[in-house]
Amino acid sequence: MYDLIIHNGQIVSTSHVSSPDTWIGIQDEKIVCIQAGPLPHDASKRYIDAKGAYITPGGIDTHVHLQQLQVAPGDDTGDTFESGTRSAIAGGTTTIIAFANQQRHDKSLYPLVEEYHRRASKDGTWCDYGFHVILTNPTKAILDEEIPVLFEKEGISSIKVYMTYEARRVGDRDMLEIMLRTRKLGMTLMIHAENDDMVQLVIDHLRDNDLTEPHHHAIARTPLAEAEATNRAICLSNLVSSPILIVHVSSSAAMSRIRTAQNDLQPIFAETCPQYLLMLADAMRSSGHGGCGCSHSAEEKAEDDGFEGAKLICSPPLRESKDDLDAVWKGMINGTVTTFSSDHCPSAFDHPKGKKKGLESGKADFTKVPNGLPGVETRLPLLMTYGVEKERITVQRFVEVTSTQPAHLYGLQHRKGSIAPGMDADIVIWFPNGTIQEEISNDKLHHSIDYTPFEGFQATNWPR
Ligand code: URP
Ligand code: ZN
Ligand code: ZN
Repeated sequence: MYDLIIHNGQIVSTSHVSSPDTWIGIQDEKIVCIQAGPLPHDASKRYIDAKGAYITPGGIDTHVHLQQLQVAPGDDTGDTFESGTRSAIAGGTTTIIAFANQQRHDKSLYPLVEEYHRRASKDGTWCDYGFHVILTNPTKAILDEEIPVLFEKEGISSIKVYMTYEARRVGDRDMLEIMLRTRKLGMTLMIHAENDDMVQLVIDHLRDNDLTEPHHHAIARTPLAEAEATNRAICLSNLVSSPILIVHVSSSAAMSRIRTAQNDLQPIFAETCPQYLLMLADAMRSSGHGGCGCSHSAEEKAEDDGFEGAKLICSPPLRESKDDLDAVWKGMINGTVTTFSSDHCPSAFDHPKGKKKGLESGKADFTKVPNGLPGVETRLPLLMTYGVEKERITVQRFVEVTSTQPAHLYGLQHRKGSIAPGMDADIVIWFPNGTIQEEISNDKLHHSIDYTPFEGFQATNWPR
């Protein structure tokens, strides 16, 4: 007897699409049986007809910021674990990995991890979750005593480090010390690669010249700063033979350095996000409508005061050149990109501690705007629409970058990331092309943020 049978769908794996008459039997939240053709009549309490549909493993979004301590000035205006995971599940993501971030003065990670567990369990979550730790002060005690314990006992299999942001950046020696430990333990090391000194120099010049409207954010954080830091991270990794994952890759320059290192058989992995495939910095100049040719009237677009572009401030920024967009698509298509995440890092727009913090002094100042975009719910529908249904990538590649490879990178592959007997029954059903023709709009989303950067983008499919 099964709890649930899903019948007549096509299961998608990284290499294969099953025959259209595939039946899946589920019991106690696990997949227990898969076969071509019917399971016995009356074998289940519940049936779902997936005729004509693709069945993919639940999305795994491994880059989600929720209730993070001091991530940005707007940290209390974003999503909670409850609202963030509600949004995730409504967009077909059944597992998220969020961040527990060390602040410089934290001498131990243990209270931190406990605090994040408390935050996540307070109001419950709608999907499975785990944590990465962000290291900003990697002392010897933390590296040699605490990290192995967190890895072995708490299931924390990944560390993120920043090469940018005054309050968080770590130096090259610290990165090397961290790499030696992640290599030894087999942990994934996520690196936010932007050269902070290059960024700060440009910011100072822009400020001196009174150029502080939101779109200058994209000028300040140049692709060169991303390329330099990416290249440096690759060289450091090469020195100590340690695998690394460059997160939220946004430019042609960074992508090509990663590709070159991969061609030299270095263990360099890459992550990208929907915003770097679909939007250019131009959209920040006034509209904040994502540059999507959406249906907002000229009056609506003109109404904003030039600050709406703050809605699109994230780091790395949206890029100025279409060449960057094309290069990120190429990385998605040719296998350079390992994993596709949202970098969901939301702040409300119309809130004095949210994006509007950038108007505090009475004049728009992009350096005061909390960085980050909401996107955990729109990640999969956007890649299904603009990737699979526009025939840029196959549905197998979609599964690879949204679920299977994320599971492997973060040690979840024994339970998640593919549909097979014994695996968690984290399952998404996609009914065929063209069953939905909609524009994405914030009022249909389930996060607690007052806008989506993808307002007006198409969704020709939505996960069930
Ligand atoms: O703009 C972003 N993504 N801010 C969030 C922090 C980060 O760098 O991931
Ligand atoms: Zn980052
Ligand atoms: Zn992030």
